[in-house]
Amino acid sequence: MKLLFATNNSHKLREIREIAGKDYQILSLNDVNMATDIPETRDTLEDNARQKAQFIYDKTGFSSFADDTGLEVDALDGRPGVYSARYAGEGCSFDDNVSKILEELDTIENRKACFRCVVCLILDGNEYLFEGRIPGEISRERRGTDGFGYDPVFQPDGHIQTFAEMPPHLKNGISHRGIAASKMFRFLQKK
Ligand code: IMP
Repeated sequence: MKLLFATNNSHKLREIREIAGKDYQILSLNDVNMATDIPETRDTLEDNARQKAQFIYDKTGFSSFADDTGLEVDALDGRPGVYSARYAGEGCSFDDNVSKILEELDTIENRKACFRCVVCLILDGNEYLFEGRIPGEISRERRGTDGFGYDPVFQPDGHIQTFAEMPPHLKNGISHRGIAASKMFRFLQKK
């Protein structure tokens, strides 16, 4: 089965292709010759995932899905949450966001956080949502070079490595995106 992944994030594409396995061919926007910015202007993960998947479905007619992810930090009352991408300001880098989190938590003992991911699938015009969460904590400093975004400072509960220190298959096997996407693939298998 072919599914179009509505993202311009090459890290996410690689992860989803690994999670999908052989039964699914995950097409990128490049594969369908589409170069476009995808709007992401809503204020919940659910609505952003819907907006992105629907935008690409409307343009292509292809069965499409999108994900939206937020890092929810307890001591910051759930921030950055849905604003995780632009936390350090418009046009900021992954590294700017990580620096901001580390500075804000500098003197704070409670480092608990959670990654939450919502995947929205549009299939034959119908919409389906899947959620994945993983609890963990924000490390005191950056560790590891794999992954992207907040991976160097996110240590999932029950592990001694940050996501950025883990081999990709280990992160994908336990991550918010892995959980949400696996739910989607299980759903598709039953269809
Ligand atoms: P997005 O809106 O779903 O692209 O995600 C918002 C931001 O969350 C991204 O810019 C990344 O900084 C961060 N993010 C999303 N997924 C992950 C992940 O798997 N690991 C680390 N950071 C992530």
